[in-house]
Amino acid sequence: MKSNTAELPESLTILINFLENVQEIDSDKLTTFLKSIEMRSADYLPFNYFDHPVNESYGRNKISEGRNYSIFLMSWAPGDFTAIHSHGLSDWGAVCFFGDTTHRLYKADGNRIELVQKGIVPAGTVVPVTGNLVHAMGNMGDNPIMSLHIYGSDNSLSNANDDSEIYEIEKHRVSTTNGSAFLNSEDKFIKKWEKGIVSNSETISDYFEIIKTYYSRNKIVHMADYIDLILRKPELFSLEPSPLKEDIQIIL
Ligand SMILES: [Fe+2]
Repeated sequence: MKSNTAELPESLTILINFLENVQEIDSDKLTTFLKSIEMRSADYLPFNYFDHPVNESYGRNKISEGRNYSIFLMSWAPGDFTAIHSHGLSDWGAVCFFGDTTHRLYKADGNRIELVQKGIVPAGTVVPVTGNLVHAMGNMGDNPIMSLHIYGSDNSLSNANDDSEIYEIEKHRVSTTNGSAFLNSEDKFIKKWEKGIVSNSETISDYFEIIKTYYSRNKIVHMADYIDLILRKPELFSLEPSPLKEDIQIIL
């Protein structure tokens, strides 16, 4: 069960105190601070959300919020993954990785999206985040892992991650969300979307390999079949209509 009322870990109290009292902040300053305090994965277990609904592709639990920031504890069961996403209106932020986390870095230009780096971020890493970072992360390992995410605003916006974009390659569209980055995001999280996405076969194949777990797990057969088809024949991506296009017409 998701809890955000458990007793706060000492490191979180120290972090909140820092965020509430710091005069000027940016991602580097936050990252340096986070590296200076002891962040123990076990302390955050009471906030885990490994048993999130299967249609939400990872566990997203907001555990604290201030005038100009939000703090989330993300839970990653084996196979959990985000969509490819930006970080909206976040002016500054950071992520603490509590486990070895599968990571993809992308370059985005309008509706063009390209993979630029893939790898594992080791447990204990802290990285800065700003709104224009476009990435995807998840758990391709065998054990559940968690990560702590801080997103902040220079403009007194507590939901600094609002207006994040998700690059839904399998749906041939780019959507704007409330800050969540779920795969196959429900309409209630999506503020608007634009048809059309451009990519290359390396990016598409890598991404489809990752997301096929989600669509199989959710028994969304028409999309799982489409993903299998494109994995076999990536050259069909720009020719073959996404199976959800008819659904999109209904939403319109
Ligand atoms: Fe992210």
